[in-house]
Amino acid sequence: MRIAMIGTGYVGLVSGACLRISASRHLRRQGRRQDRALHRGEIPIFEPGLDTLVAANVKAKRLDFTTDLSAPVAEADAVFIAVGTPSRRGDGHADLSYVYAAAREIAAALKGFTVVVTKSTVPVGTGDEVERLIREANPSADVVVASNPEFLREGAAIRDFKFPDRIVVGTSDERGRRCSAMSTGRCRSTRRR
Ligand SMILES: NC(=O)c1ccc[n+]([C@@H]2O[C@H](COP(=O)([O-])OP(=O)(O)OC[C@H]3O[C@@H](n4cnc5c(N)ncnc54)[C@H](O)[C@@H]3O)[C@@H](O)[C@H]2O)c1
Repeated sequence: MRIAMIGTGYVGLVSGACLRISASRHLRRQGRRQDRALHRGEIPIFEPGLDTLVAANVKAKRLDFTTDLSAPVAEADAVFIAVGTPSRRGDGHADLSYVYAAAREIAAALKGFTVVVTKSTVPVGTGDEVERLIREANPSADVVVASNPEFLREGAAIRDFKFPDRIVVGTSDERGRRCSAMSTGRCRSTRRR
């Protein structure tokens, strides 16, 4: 199964590095500005064990970083959105602009059946809007949108990801459920075009 992870912050980087342990063999991640440093093994966050994990997966060619998401998304069975949702100044609501920007970028690159999974922390209804944006930008896309919010804690993120105390997957489509569950290693669903 091929996975593309959009965002190389805490959630994206830890999830991407851990997914190979769960099941994935080919993992590509898309980040901005950080891809060269990440290739060199420079981790922009503090998380015990993450540098070793990333370095091992890069060396084994299971993990790759790029600022151009077109090829990784086109090849992916599942694309995870793990971009930031900072609190908006004033009303404190989550700023979803990065999530929606990622959805538009993904839409343009989709090829074949793909599950797009929101991993960022977002309010109810965001999945519908992500799907609407994708279909608006790419009406012929064969896509299912699912939700799989992350609950890892900084400083214990690798352990939390590998041994989650809860798993939440939201989707109305069985293929979406199976692909989303891959992120926890509890489902080894595979499909190729
Ligand atoms: N940090 C945590 O402990 C934690 C735990 C659970 C859930 N979350 C949630 O997960 C989400 C991500 O959190 P984080 O801490 O990893 O955020 P972060 O700010 O550390 O990282 C977000 C990353 O996304 C990148 N990005 C933004 N737009 C992009 C785009 N269009 N294409 C590619 N990359 C893009 C940014 O450059 C950044 O590297 C948030 O919704 C957060 O609330 C965070």
